[in-house]
Amino acid sequence: MNKTLIITGGAGFIGSHVVRLFVHKYPDYKIINLDALTYAGNLENLTDIENAPNYTFVKADITNEPELRAVFEQYRPDAIIHLAAESHVDRSITNPNAFIQTNVMGTANLLNLAREFWTLNPAHTHGHFPDRKELNNLFYHVSTDEVYGSLGETGFFLETTSYDPQSPYSASKAASDHLVRAYGNTYGLPFMLSNCSNNYGPNHFPEKLIPLCISNIINEKPLPIYGDGKYTRDWLFVIDHAIAIDAIFHNAKVGETYNIGGFNEWQNIDLVCELIKQMDAKLRRPAGYSEKLITYVKDRPGHDKRYAIDANKLKDDLGWTPSVTFEEGLDKTIDWYLSNEAWLKNVTSGAYQRYYEDQYIN
Ligand code: NAD
Ligand code: DAU
Repeated sequence: MNKTLIITGGAGFIGSHVVRLFVHKYPDYKIINLDALTYAGNLENLTDIENAPNYTFVKADITNEPELRAVFEQYRPDAIIHLAAESHVDRSITNPNAFIQTNVMGTANLLNLAREFWTLNPAHTHGHFPDRKELNNLFYHVSTDEVYGSLGETGFFLETTSYDPQSPYSASKAASDHLVRAYGNTYGLPFMLSNCSNNYGPNHFPEKLIPLCISNIINEKPLPIYGDGKYTRDWLFVIDHAIAIDAIFHNAKVGETYNIGGFNEWQNIDLVCELIKQMDAKLRRPAGYSEKLITYVKDRPGHDKRYAIDANKLKDDLGWTPSVTFEEGLDKTIDWYLSNEAWLKNVTSGAYQRYYEDQYIN
């Protein structure tokens, strides 16, 4: 094992795909999956690699500094890929404090420890970033395109777009992005950052639009469409996000930021109709059978109209482009949910308890 890498939030949706990719691709790294196992964290996402020799799970909460310190003391990480967060916009509207605690304070705890263990070490020269090939002391922060706010009918988010977060979730992520850059600028902490568009794919918690609709089409439950359904998102298959993180982590210059996106914009209502079309066919229902489930509900407060990412910097610098089309990705995703109904049943019982029906339908 030549390097120890902590991946925070590795039991969640995107984190589990990142952990799996790194465990398979880098047998020489010791991969520590650090996760508090909130409602969104699920070790069932990783049963296929749980016994891999280069993989360790550690249950720890990033808001708990002493707990986090103990993990740093024990494992002495060479690098961190930070994904742990409260990630759902609607929950940030009903409970913003949880987002401020985890996304801002939790990130600050990680930054303070990384600084203490790395930059206060006498071997580190302030402002001199380590040789990239050595992967030494690198803090990679995984963030969102929502920090840029909302677009109108045209235009794209660039890495240079000013921050303009609109929800407590995006404001908390924007704050954590600013902290990461400030620790780089002020203390010489080697960092990199990426801001990605909406992910979809296997293991996505069914509170987000695509997995919620897949689950509700299976169970013939309402498909809640916020407002007029004409809000636009850019969708990326989760494994392509994991591949982009790998490319950036290993090849980007320290201090860089990359936007990651699918070049794939959909209005919500069109996307839900596409899901209905594909799922009715797979479930051998008559074409259009599930359209009756579409239910317009009250809008999300402060709902951002449109997100669209320009991911050309990542394409030009590192040669990354999405590896699957949206049609292929959606097909793989629907098939995964249809073959993993036990997973779906397990995560929708217990803490989740049909959050959506309470918030938006009743
Ligand atoms: P998720 O909600 O599925 O998973 C979050 C994980 O973090 C869970 O395993 C949870 O247990 C863990 N976690 C939460 N609070 C914690 C704490 N206090 N201490 C330790 N672990 C904690 O989220 P996701 O959709 O996989 O998103 C992962 C990251 O990627 C987030 O930082 C999110 O902002 C970012 N992101 C997500 C998307 C998306 O479309 N889902 C897009 C761009 C960026
Ligand atoms: O853009 C990246 C972000 O994408 C990530 O940072 C967030 O972690 C992730 O949750 C996601 O945020 P969104 O708010 O865009 O995703 P969500 O799936 O919640 O909603 C997608 C769109 O669908 C949005 O316009 C709201 C709408 N929607 C959502 C739900 C859950 C509905 O119309 N009905 C619903 O039931």
